[in-house]
Amino acid sequence: MLKVLYVASECAPFAITGGLGDVIESLPRAIQKKKVDARVILPKYGNIPAEYKKEMMHVKSFTVPVGWRNQYAGLQVFEHQGITYYFIDNEGYFKREGIYGYFDEAERFSFFCRAVLESLQYMDDFQPDILHCNDWQTALVPVFLKEFYWDKPLYQKIKTVFTIHNLKYQGVFWMNVEDVLGLSSSKQYDEAFEFYGDINFMKAGIYYADKITTVSNTYAEEIKTAYFGENLDGVLRKFGDKLVGIINGIDYNKYNPESDPHIYANYRTSLAKKEQNKLMLQEDMGLPVRNNVPMLGMVSRLTRQKGLDLLVYIIDELLSLDVQLVILGVGEYGYEHTLRYAAERHPAKMQLFLMFNEAMARKIYAASDLYLMPSLFEPCGLSHLIALRYGTLPVVRETGGLKDTIQSYNECTGEGNGFSFTNFNAHDFLFTIKRALDFYHNQPVIWNNIVKNAFKANYSWHTSAQRYIDLYESLLSD
Ligand code: GLC
Repeated sequence: MLKVLYVASECAPFAITGGLGDVIESLPRAIQKKKVDARVILPKYGNIPAEYKKEMMHVKSFTVPVGWRNQYAGLQVFEHQGITYYFIDNEGYFKREGIYGYFDEAERFSFFCRAVLESLQYMDDFQPDILHCNDWQTALVPVFLKEFYWDKPLYQKIKTVFTIHNLKYQGVFWMNVEDVLGLSSSKQYDEAFEFYGDINFMKAGIYYADKITTVSNTYAEEIKTAYFGENLDGVLRKFGDKLVGIINGIDYNKYNPESDPHIYANYRTSLAKKEQNKLMLQEDMGLPVRNNVPMLGMVSRLTRQKGLDLLVYIIDELLSLDVQLVILGVGEYGYEHTLRYAAERHPAKMQLFLMFNEAMARKIYAASDLYLMPSLFEPCGLSHLIALRYGTLPVVRETGGLKDTIQSYNECTGEGNGFSFTNFNAHDFLFTIKRALDFYHNQPVIWNNIVKNAFKANYSWHTSAQRYIDLYESLLSD
């Protein structure tokens, strides 16, 4: 049986800040269903909920080299809903508030990568064929594997896959490579790590991993260009033959309007039931209760990546229309402030919740007619896929995974599951919303057909999980 160990810095429900945590929760489950032994390893952070921590079993204590020092590591294990999760324990590094943002990130995550490799000796019943690493925090696993373990029989056959969920975050540090990595400077290391006078973990991962993947086909192409390449486009072009795009899926059991316990009225494809969700949400939020006003929803980190600049630029024009806008999320202070001010000016049209709340998110997906996602760039994006599942039509910019999953409605062919625009331009965004609203108000038959197409779209993990398995198998037969 194929054995895959997913190495990551986030995984729901233990520790999550964004889409990475969702993918590391749902992908191993989808892979496991296809008769693969899929397990996950992550740091044991201080704020993993106590109900999970108390179930963890200690497997082994050992020491891990970090530069010239040795640090304590504990391997712990916990089986949860059929998946085996391993945790690397070191309270000095990980028993802190939150997940990221510390002065010693380079050291914390290089410790983690080395500890993952050391811990393979103690997973008695499990010798992975593939180490599947995710984002810069895990990028040193392929590096250390090839530099420190190549002569050890247990490790010789292991292949590595490195997935880029977001090229923007690369793990760039000023530090000298030797200090925390224990690698002495050489031409090879310098070329892999060197980044405009700093060191770059993600760049080294790209050099050393056997395969690189990213989370959509379009993003895989985009990041080879200067506009999207975040100064690594040259490296990605150089290694283009080992880079592939595999679109993310979402868990269709978790996100299911038929059984979702958080929404007001469950439905499969009934628009009347979907509308009840809107009426109830309007009432709960204190918006005018009307069925014929389109509700525009957004559940998002409030960051530049998510296209907030476009929204704030046109927000007054948008709210001069007969619409209701509901936004849930937290993020950069400037956007939070501008949106709060807009919500104060338009209390009967806009509701803003500067927080994250899963139950409220589900209510918004179910109640909205349109889902706004005008991203500047988007490696994959998950929330527009959830919106589709709830029959809510996405309005997206054609970039990354948004381009690969949303077909803008085409009047000639009748095809399309949403609406999209090309240029990062606020009035193109507004125009596209208006185009959608025109169908909503004046062409209900067409509108209903687009909603039907949205319900028909299938972005579960089924196909993508198989693509990962094919990739793992092709590596092992090399
Ligand atoms: C990052 C990306 C997002 C992607 C997610 C999971 O959060 O920004 O587009 O869906 O990772 O791969």
